[in-house]
Amino acid sequence: MCGIVGYVGTEAPQGIILEGLKKLEYRGYDSAGIAVVDNGELKVRKHVGAIVNLERMIGDEKLGGHVGIGHTRWATHGAPSDINSHPHLSADGKVALVHNGLVENYTEIKQRLLEEGFSFRSETDSEVAAVLVGKYYAEGLELVEALGRAVSEMEGTFALAAVAYDRPDEFVAFRRNAPLIVGKGRGCNFVASDFSALLKYTKDVHLLENDDLVLLRPDSVTIWDKDRKKVTRETLHISWDVNAAEKGDYEHFMLKEIYEQPQGIMETLRRNLTDDGRVDIYDMKLTPEHFAQFNKVCIVACGTAYHAGLVGRYILEKIVKLPVEVDIASEFRYRDPFVDEKTLFIAISQSGETADTLEALREAKKKGAYVLSIVNVVGSTVARESDDVFYTWAGPEIAVASTKAYTTQLLCLYLLALYFADLRGTIDADHYREMVDALVAVPKQMEEVLEMRPAIEKLAKKLYDRDQVFFIGRGIDSSVAYEGSLKLKEISYINSFAIAAGELKHGTIALMEPKTIVIALATQDRLFDKMVSNIQEVKARNAQIISIAKEGNTKIEEHSDVTFYIPQCIDEVTPLLSVIPLQLYAYYVAKEKHCEIDRPRNLAKSVTVE
Ligand code: M6R
Repeated sequence: MCGIVGYVGTEAPQGIILEGLKKLEYRGYDSAGIAVVDNGELKVRKHVGAIVNLERMIGDEKLGGHVGIGHTRWATHGAPSDINSHPHLSADGKVALVHNGLVENYTEIKQRLLEEGFSFRSETDSEVAAVLVGKYYAEGLELVEALGRAVSEMEGTFALAAVAYDRPDEFVAFRRNAPLIVGKGRGCNFVASDFSALLKYTKDVHLLENDDLVLLRPDSVTIWDKDRKKVTRETLHISWDVNAAEKGDYEHFMLKEIYEQPQGIMETLRRNLTDDGRVDIYDMKLTPEHFAQFNKVCIVACGTAYHAGLVGRYILEKIVKLPVEVDIASEFRYRDPFVDEKTLFIAISQSGETADTLEALREAKKKGAYVLSIVNVVGSTVARESDDVFYTWAGPEIAVASTKAYTTQLLCLYLLALYFADLRGTIDADHYREMVDALVAVPKQMEEVLEMRPAIEKLAKKLYDRDQVFFIGRGIDSSVAYEGSLKLKEISYINSFAIAAGELKHGTIALMEPKTIVIALATQDRLFDKMVSNIQEVKARNAQIISIAKEGNTKIEEHSDVTFYIPQCIDEVTPLLSVIPLQLYAYYVAKEKHCEIDRPRNLAKSVTVE
């Protein structure tokens, strides 16, 4: 959580940093702040709330200088407030620091500093880091040494950047298990929590390793590794387009990203499918011999990525014929899972920085599993710590509610399943061909589904004020139900609930009332009649039914108040299509309720704390 931007160069940092922070606002938006070094003075401006509040506060003031750091916050220690906002100052006011992550031993450090006579203004662990760096700087260390000394005493996961009042041409930074990249410009250099903040200025970045300490000047970037040896780090050229991180003509990023799904699918297919329709996963290191040793697959992820994993289990079990477990990452580590060198461990993450997923991945590696990750952000920590990476080519996803990442994650799981099934000889040529053809048809079919938008908007306008919504489905549809429910609750704050339809009668059906909305996914030919029976059960309790079915299955209309049809396709690939009406429904309900769609309350895009 939290976003960091730092700049040193020939221009005034103010505009560059504020612009960069806006691109990172999806990471946290409780408060924002900036510090620049201007003529021997540290100018710090910070304000609770979104960056626009900070901009209003700064008004026409020109902060000047050539070096600065900025921060957008998702509160962990201490409520969102001006005083808890970053940058934080050292006790003597000579060093300013921004921080992302958690300093786990901050209470002990704080106690020690209090005993030494230092005082604190905020409740944050971040201020403790600022005071500690400031103390060492005041004792005569170079700024970079002071930061290096301070982090050697700090435990936890964090990224930091700091400036000092008398250092007009440099700033320093550090990363430990929290994202931070270095951007290389001409006559200027940057740090940021992710690429999107820098795309306008540079596409060349250094990926930092854990415990790297960095000194940035206009013409140089010096990096020391964990043993404080000078090192050079790999430079990566980012292919993302600057416009990909802009809203364009769309009112919200979420709507734009829903509409970008056909493109994300096409791009991911293009990179991993040969002209003659064979799956050839780009850069896959896993050899057929190694693959043959696995006796189970374990998928771990959080939130939407976990829901993608649930779909993945159906597909992998069906066509690869290996047992597949799917776990919520935050639970995985604590149940002493049975994982060993015969386990293929698949971590799914859009950001590649989710702390729970990362910790689960590390646990699995410790136990000897082979880790393959499905990740959207190139060079992210999950990607770098995995044995193999399968990138989703969704482009930057800015809205907190994940949409295009989900569908590209699904696609990667389908492609993996085909690839593995082929290696294991568990799929025949006709079925392989049928699946590939079905996937290739998806982008066009997604376009058709997107045409439902006006009808879904109309429905949302009618039903937005209901306070209870259920999502039900059977088989693979139940996994999509979970995703639909999460989308609705996270952006519209409606109490929604997903359940496998067959499970309703074991308790949950007690909640059905005349105004309850039930969104019923009935896309599985094999389970269609069973699903119709479940719909009848809730209909009999006077719930209102919105159903999603495949074109032609009109029988469902007798039992539904409203039906949306997805194009005909094989049962396995329906999630790629059926999720779209659910995303649009969540979007329009939230819009009708005047919710902050791209930045829902209490959430952040990238959850880098456990
Ligand atoms: O970046 P990740 O895919 O690892 O993020 C996982 C979840 O935090 C994420 O999917 C979250 O649930 C979204 N807000 C859902 O829309």
